[in-house]
Amino acid sequence: MDIGIIGAGAMGRTLAAKLTGLGHRVSIANSRWPESLADVAAETGAAAVPVVDAVKVADIVILAIPTKAVAELPRGLFADAPDGLIVIDIGNYHPELRDGRIEAIERGVLDSEWVERQIGRPVIKAFNSILATSLAEKGATKGVRGRIALPVSGGALEDRAVVMSMVDRLGFDPVDVGSLANSFRQQPGTPAYCRDLDAAALSTALAAADRSRVANYRALREAEIKRMIAAQAR
Ligand SMILES: NC(=O)c1ccc[n+]([C@@H]2O[C@H](COP(=O)([O-])OP(=O)(O)OC[C@H]3O[C@@H](n4cnc5c(N)ncnc54)[C@H](OP(=O)(O)O)[C@@H]3O)[C@@H](O)[C@H]2O)c1
Repeated sequence: MDIGIIGAGAMGRTLAAKLTGLGHRVSIANSRWPESLADVAAETGAAAVPVVDAVKVADIVILAIPTKAVAELPRGLFADAPDGLIVIDIGNYHPELRDGRIEAIERGVLDSEWVERQIGRPVIKAFNSILATSLAEKGATKGVRGRIALPVSGGALEDRAVVMSMVDRLGFDPVDVGSLANSFRQQPGTPAYCRDLDAAALSTALAAADRSRVANYRALREAEIKRMIAAQAR
C-alpha cells in the first residue's frame, strides 16, 4: 500500500520505519520542507515529501501531529482525495501541556470527532494509546502470550478491518471498539490508555471507561506527565 504519514516526530518516524519494514511505500511530511527530513528518510526508508504529497497518492494517511496542528493543515488538503482513502488519527488532545484549549473538545466533542470535523472526512482512531517506545520495541508475533493489544475505533467497518489488519501486522492484537463515538474509551488517562495490556485485559479496561469522566481522565494524565517531566529534570 501507499501510506502517507503527516508528522515525523516520535510516533511518525516509528510508524514509518515499521511500515517500510512491512514493504509499504511510505511518504512522510512535517510542517517544513522535505529537506528537513533527510535524516528521517535515511533512517526509515520513507520518502520525505511536502504535506500535500503525503495525501495525493496514498491509500492510507496517518495523522501523527499535535491535535492543535490539525487545524493548521493546508485548507482543502483532503478535498480531492479519493473516497476510498483511509485516514488514521493517532492524536491525543493535551490542552495544558501542548494544544491550548479547544473549546469544542472542552464542551464534550471527542478528540478524533473534532479532527474529523477539521479535515472534513471520517477518521479511524488507532495507535493513540501506546507510547512510541512500546510501539517501536514491544511488537510480537501473533499468538505470543501477553501480546500487547491496541484499540481501533471509527470509520466504516471495512476500513476499520484494514487498519486492524495493519495493527496485527505491526505486532499487536487489534481490538475493535466500534464507532468513533466509542473512542472516548481509548482517550488519555482512561483505564486502557498506554498500559500495554493484552487483548483480554484491554477489552475489560475499555469497557470500564466512563464517558462522563473524560475530562477528569485527561486532567489526571496531564498531571502524571507533568510529574514525570519534573522528575526527569531533577
Ligand atoms: N509520543 C508518543 O509516545 C505518542 C503516543 C501515542 C500518541 N501520540 C500522539 O501522536 C501525535 C504525535 O506525537 P509525537 O510524540 O510523535 O509528536 P512530536 O514528536 O512532537 O512530533 C510532531 C510532528 O508533527 C509535525 N507537525 C506539527 N505541526 C504540523 C503541521 N501543521 N503540518 C505538518 N506537520 C506538523 C512536526 O513537524 P515540525 O518539526 O516541522 O514542527 C513533528 O514532525 C500527538 O497527537 C501525540 O499526542 C504520541
